[in-house]
Amino acid sequence: MKINHAFIIVGIFLATSGFAQTTLKEAFKNDFLIGAALNETQFSGGKAAEAALVRTQFNTISPENVLKWEPIHPKSDQYNFGPADQYVEFGQKNGLFIVGHTLVWHQQTPKWVFQDARGKPLDRDTLLARMREHIFTVVGRYQGKIGGWDVVNEALNDDGTLRESPWEKIIGEDYLLKAYQFAHEADPQAQLYYNDFSLENAPKREGAIALVKKLQAAGIPIAGVGLQGHYNMDWPTPAQLDETIAAFSPLGVKVMITELDLNMLPAATQSQAAEVSMNFALRAELNPYTNGLPAVVQQQLAQRYADLFAVLVKHHDVVSRVTFWGVTDGDSWLNNWPVKGRTAYPLLFDRNRQPKPAFNAVIQTSRLPQTPQKPR
Ligand code: XIL
Repeated sequence: MKINHAFIIVGIFLATSGFAQTTLKEAFKNDFLIGAALNETQFSGGKAAEAALVRTQFNTISPENVLKWEPIHPKSDQYNFGPADQYVEFGQKNGLFIVGHTLVWHQQTPKWVFQDARGKPLDRDTLLARMREHIFTVVGRYQGKIGGWDVVNEALNDDGTLRESPWEKIIGEDYLLKAYQFAHEADPQAQLYYNDFSLENAPKREGAIALVKKLQAAGIPIAGVGLQGHYNMDWPTPAQLDETIAAFSPLGVKVMITELDLNMLPAATQSQAAEVSMNFALRAELNPYTNGLPAVVQQQLAQRYADLFAVLVKHHDVVSRVTFWGVTDGDSWLNNWPVKGRTAYPLLFDRNRQPKPAFNAVIQTSRLPQTPQKPR
């Protein structure tokens, strides 16, 4: 009897602790890199336990914010490299594939970038010169260290047309081509990516396919397309994800899931768009799980993750990386977007860094033989 009890206790420990389970990077080592977006506390030593979890589970990292224009280049004559340097050092020290995110975007880019000294809209040539200087400075600094760059982020509208961002309005549609040319000149070895959300919807996907073809026709060696992967419980369907990966594959580019999370909180809007500018008022009915996730919802999340990973594993020859947008549920931007102050559960590790049922569900989609999880 005593021995049986011991077995049961060890079994519960193994099943709940993640100990003796395979890790994410091990489970998908023959398929794709597996990563997480990091915030400053995780790579600057503030959250040592989360850093340890990153080292154990992942083989690639993305910077949640520190390489965006606003934090790294807040004023025209001022760069703030400290946090980005720490991010890159963390990746190098731990032998991780380091992603750069992002060079040219309409969000988290200061107003001065698009204005002259008197606050008037800049002319095309001056903005191009500014873009070139920024790209050469940032990409050049991390040349040979950052392996791939989201050069342009979110350039398309839902209907596949080009977004009328300040970049597009001032420079014209060739701003994209210029951004990729500058990035390629600044580090010829770095992989160049195009990153966006909602590419699983056909009209926007067609726009992205046309964009990739245009870049390729101009001689840009574009290496991959990033599907951000800010998904919810109903969208995209596994079939939509499947057809999206299949649609990019003939272009000869890799497909990456670059910002994966599953928002299972009540929808604040009908829109599937991951526009960071969205902000809806907090209401109690939008925040139902402040005291934890009911088991049945945990299982739904696990099943949903398993369904999506089954598609990614099926396309392991085209999918080169799957990166989660955060490490634990507590870190996720979804606690504050598109509604501030909610309790979100979109990732594989809970607020105490423990693997959730969704973690096991994902591991079980691996093509490798499974580690038995209970003692015999
Ligand atoms: C988000 C970060 O997670 C937040 O911390 C920040 O306040 C806003 O941006 N698409 C992207 C990411 O490409 O850069 C965004 O990251 C999420 C949506």
